Amino acid sequence: MSTFQAPKGTYDLLPPNSATYLAVREAISGPLKNSGYGYIETPGFENVELFARGVGESTDIVTKEMYAFETKGGDRLALRPEGTASVLRAALEANLHKGGNLPVKLWYSGSYYRYERPQKGRYRHFSQVGAEAIGTEDPALDAELIILADQAYRSLGLRNFRILLNSLGDKECRPVYRAALQDFLRGLDLDDDTRRRVDINPLRVLDDKRESVQRQLTGAPMLRDYLCEACKAYHEQVRELLTAAGVAFEDDEKLVRGLDYYTRTTFEFVHDGLGSQSAVGGGGRYDGLSEMIGGPALPSVGWALGVDRTVLALEAEGIALDIPAATAVYAVPLGEEARRVLFGTVTALRRAGVATDFAYGGKGLKNAMKSANRSGARLALVAGERDLAEGLVQLKDLESGEQTPVALDAVVDEVTRRLG
Ligand code: HAM
Repeated sequence: MSTFQAPKGTYDLLPPNSATYLAVREAISGPLKNSGYGYIETPGFENVELFARGVGESTDIVTKEMYAFETKGGDRLALRPEGTASVLRAALEANLHKGGNLPVKLWYSGSYYRYERPQKGRYRHFSQVGAEAIGTEDPALDAELIILADQAYRSLGLRNFRILLNSLGDKECRPVYRAALQDFLRGLDLDDDTRRRVDINPLRVLDDKRESVQRQLTGAPMLRDYLCEACKAYHEQVRELLTAAGVAFEDDEKLVRGLDYYTRTTFEFVHDGLGSQSAVGGGGRYDGLSEMIGGPALPSVGWALGVDRTVLALEAEGIALDIPAATAVYAVPLGEEARRVLFGTVTALRRAGVATDFAYGGKGLKNAMKSANRSGARLALVAGERDLAEGLVQLKDLESGEQTPVALDAVVDEVTRRLG
């Protein structure tokens, strides 16, 4: 071991497990790519003010969890704690919303950073695949996103997840509810921290996990009873579209989410095998975010799924993804001349699209065959001086053990034929 270790709350993705992470990213992005979402990549850091205004001054993410720093040039930046604010910032900056083609549909995949207390499923560096549909208010768009996430999870073989759905109202009805909730909460016996939360973000108190708080919340006004007609009708349409698509969900009127920008539709994907960090993904509508960061009114909706937690969910369900072996052919040279010739064959095979690896470092036959087996290759190419003198290499089927000589100049054809 070296003197250095991965920083607290982080871990490295290493082969062979890292292949599962790649496969999960593929599985989540596949349905998006197939539904009109274009790929976007933004910097790993942004002006800290973007998150303060976008994600919200009263959220844990901004007040406690942000990696914020000042650069040598005096800029105040933060490592991105989430993707939505950055993606919207980038879309606005590039005027994507002015192309006359709304919604602007974007997907992304990358690293995010939150200074959280690490535990299983909660890390300081984690990975999300996300999607944002910007500039359109249409319940079918909310439904589309939920359906695509459901499709992605099902394609991975996941079954024990649930979709929690709620509406947080809009700028008409939520303030009325907020005031009513504050009135109620101010009559309760709460600690100072929670009282402060009642002032800045009362809806979050509904989410408080402590029994002592939950007990007092019986009889609290519920947002459902305050939703305006427009929000109710919108929500009902989202629900109907999901039902028609055969996507099961649970109404969860206590689902609040930890980011301030949400309006109307909010949802979370939770997995029952993950313990306390059960949210594998989440999202919702954020009709006011664009204006909050200085843009025009652009009603939008999106989600992000956590790659780390999705991998944990696979483990919890005992699902091993069917990941094809990275190597199809493994070449084993015996001797210096064979090394030179076979290296040429390896290059030719690779140029023909065959995944090929080579026994480097002058290993003996036994060790080299061990590496060949470990690589998962179906075929080995073995060549010694005598074979080469006759213009041959030995093609060995690593499953059956059967070995056949093949003319050197026919190897690429024969290998591609055998691999089908
Ligand atoms: P979020 O709920 O904060 O939403 O994060 C989405 C997912 O990222 C979570 O469900 C979880 O799987 C994963 N995640 C978050 N924090 C951690 C962590 N510390 N360790 C491991 N995984 C984590 C958002 O980020 C919003 N931007 C989603 C969104 C997109 N809303 C609208 N558009």
